[in-house]
Amino acid sequence: MMRIESRLAQIGSVRDSVTGAVSYPIYQATAFRHPGLGQSTGFDYARTKSPTRMVLEEAAAELESGDAGFACSSGMAALQTVFALFRQGDHLLVSLDLYGGTYRLIEQVMSRFGLTASYVDTNDIAALEAEWRPGSTKAVLIETPTNPLMMITDLAKVSEWAKSRGLLVIVDNTLMTPYFQRPIELGADIVVHSATKYLGGHNDVLAGLIVTKGKELSERMAFLHNSIGAVLGPQDSWLLMRGMKTLALRMERHQENALRVAEYLLGHPLVEEVYHPGLPQHPGHDIHRKQSSGNTGIFSFRVKDARLVEPVLRHVKLIAFAESLGGVESLMTYPAVQTHADIPEEIRRAVGVDDRLLRLSVGIEHSEDLIEDLGQALERAAREIGA
Ligand SMILES: Cc1ncc(COP(=O)(O)O)c(C=O)c1O
Repeated sequence: MMRIESRLAQIGSVRDSVTGAVSYPIYQATAFRHPGLGQSTGFDYARTKSPTRMVLEEAAAELESGDAGFACSSGMAALQTVFALFRQGDHLLVSLDLYGGTYRLIEQVMSRFGLTASYVDTNDIAALEAEWRPGSTKAVLIETPTNPLMMITDLAKVSEWAKSRGLLVIVDNTLMTPYFQRPIELGADIVVHSATKYLGGHNDVLAGLIVTKGKELSERMAFLHNSIGAVLGPQDSWLLMRGMKTLALRMERHQENALRVAEYLLGHPLVEEVYHPGLPQHPGHDIHRKQSSGNTGIFSFRVKDARLVEPVLRHVKLIAFAESLGGVESLMTYPAVQTHADIPEEIRRAVGVDDRLLRLSVGIEHSEDLIEDLGQALERAAREIGA
């Protein structure tokens, strides 16, 4: 098989046999003519299967080493579709520190349908074992690294434990992308993505992906994807593929920039802690190195004084104060009041998502410009609060 850089660059490039178009066309059609009674071109109605989306879905499945891919209208739509595998009374083991929207979907939506979850450090087998409910626990949902604290889970170890208990392993691979980490190769059954992030890469398309391993699970997911209908449209499928063609280049630059900026912040007198799994002092550093081939472009850091947060967000110029990650432009977020606001304060504080934590999604600008921007913002903030 070709290397991942080549496979990414060539997504869809040899698929249009009619015209030979190197960029796979946008098939803006919802209905497909039947050649005759009981006959089909392979496409009938766009919710079930649509050409542009299909090329994207096949690429996603292949990149994640799975059997089937499903493109959804957002990352949350992908998670909702996956949760539809479960029924009333089922229980999930979920990463303690995770994207706030996933927590909200479980606690404020799925809970009404009788699905419950326990939030645990998914790298701690004893903790998983303690929360495991024979008969009702059906799956483990893992983010590694977690968003925003970058906690690491040993995917091979936890998958082995989950298999021994008959549980599905679901991994949200948004932060790593298949370029750096492929959970299915380490034992996961399902991978989900907010493709809005690194896969799209340009802060301009909202999308989600699901990749499944195994025939039966893939068939069940195809049924749910079609039945629920939160599918991705042809224009956005095309935009996503266009973004994915440059994923390898972008991830290399995100990785390099994020590490440089993290090292700079680590040595900054106003910064107390930096959470980046690429730093040797990070508790998950060795496991992360073992199971992935690189580092994502996002990390968090804690400033020494909560009063610095507001002026830092006001004074950054190149870095935008905005609520996403994974795009070519650098963005900074304040998780406690934004992305993670729907997680109750006591849980957030116990995990470490407090009022001094900032999350930085490092883009592909020049790292020195980013460092200068952070430096001036921290300096002006310190002057304002008299620190
Ligand atoms: C790790 C993770 N999973 C899922 C989501 C949800 O994806 P979307 O915003 O595309 O619905 C996000 C969004 O921020 C995320 O960061």
